[in-house]
Amino acid sequence: MSEREIKPSHLPVMPEECLEWLDPQPGETVVDGTLGLGGHSALFAEKVGLEGHIIGLDRDTNAIELARANLEGVQAKTSLLHSAYSEMVQALSRIGVGKVDRVFLDIGVSSMQLDVPERGFSFMRDGPLDMRMNQSAGETAADLVATLSEEELANIIYRYGEEKYSRRIAKSIVAARGSESINTTARLAEIVEQAVPRRGRIHPATRVFQALRIAVNDELGELERGMGAAISLLRPGGRLAILTFHSLEDRIAKNIMRGWLADGVATLPKRKVIKPKYEECKVNPRARSAKLRVAEKI
Ligand SMILES: C[S@@+](CC[C@H](N)C(=O)[O-])C[C@H]1O[C@@H](n2cnc3c(N)ncnc32)[C@H](O)[C@@H]1O
Repeated sequence: MSEREIKPSHLPVMPEECLEWLDPQPGETVVDGTLGLGGHSALFAEKVGLEGHIIGLDRDTNAIELARANLEGVQAKTSLLHSAYSEMVQALSRIGVGKVDRVFLDIGVSSMQLDVPERGFSFMRDGPLDMRMNQSAGETAADLVATLSEEELANIIYRYGEEKYSRRIAKSIVAARGSESINTTARLAEIVEQAVPRRGRIHPATRVFQALRIAVNDELGELERGMGAAISLLRPGGRLAILTFHSLEDRIAKNIMRGWLADGVATLPKRKVIKPKYEECKVNPRARSAKLRVAEKI
């Protein structure tokens, strides 16, 4: 990966731990299901070397273009594909790949997506209320805010945002949309701010934006289906490593892996969750909530 313009938020999270536990070997095929800027893929490419193959997937075509530039010159063969990782079996079959040695997932939104106001992921920057990782399909956050019932909105905000004022916030959104279209990140943040008291340093819109983003991109469904796809693609002895960033995702990863262990489908090379080092969290704030889990197919 090139050294230019690397902000801390662009650094791959838990690089040493991901390499240690995914453990890619020379000549292997690695699927990076969440390519992003290609930071982890560049590390894996160094390990698999000239005979190896890195297959990077992303739902976001912008991410693929940025990763393509960042991976220029790596030794391994690279194939970068526009696909949801839940559809990795189909995406790989289109390039003639049936089984792989490693699958890696780094769940969530990328720093690039957060930094670009037009993508609508961040209430810190005003932009259209979009939040789709795949900009060519599906409903935007503005669509959900405009069409869901008050109860559906409250449930999403409660479940995916773990926000205790979910009902109050949903009520304010529904009241506001009676007289206006809520089309921008700044306007939604304002409505939420007016609906609930500010607690501590966290902006009240943080949880609402997280909830809408998870709903717009069906992130938890993707994780469940993606883990199923990954285990079916792995060769015996192959590994899946998953980086998650909040408790909802980590719970899914943990429960599915424990189910594999119970069913004799996989072993867990490290039973306990792996957390970042203090030194990394000081440099890269995104690492603070990271959790890494790994499974090895039997
Ligand atoms: C946190 S970033 C990955 C960063 C990357 N590991 C790196 O080092 O640059 C997550 C990326 O995964 C993509 N993504 C999220 N959910 C996805 C899904 N279900 N299928 C494919 N890509 C997804 C996002 O578009 C984003 O680019």
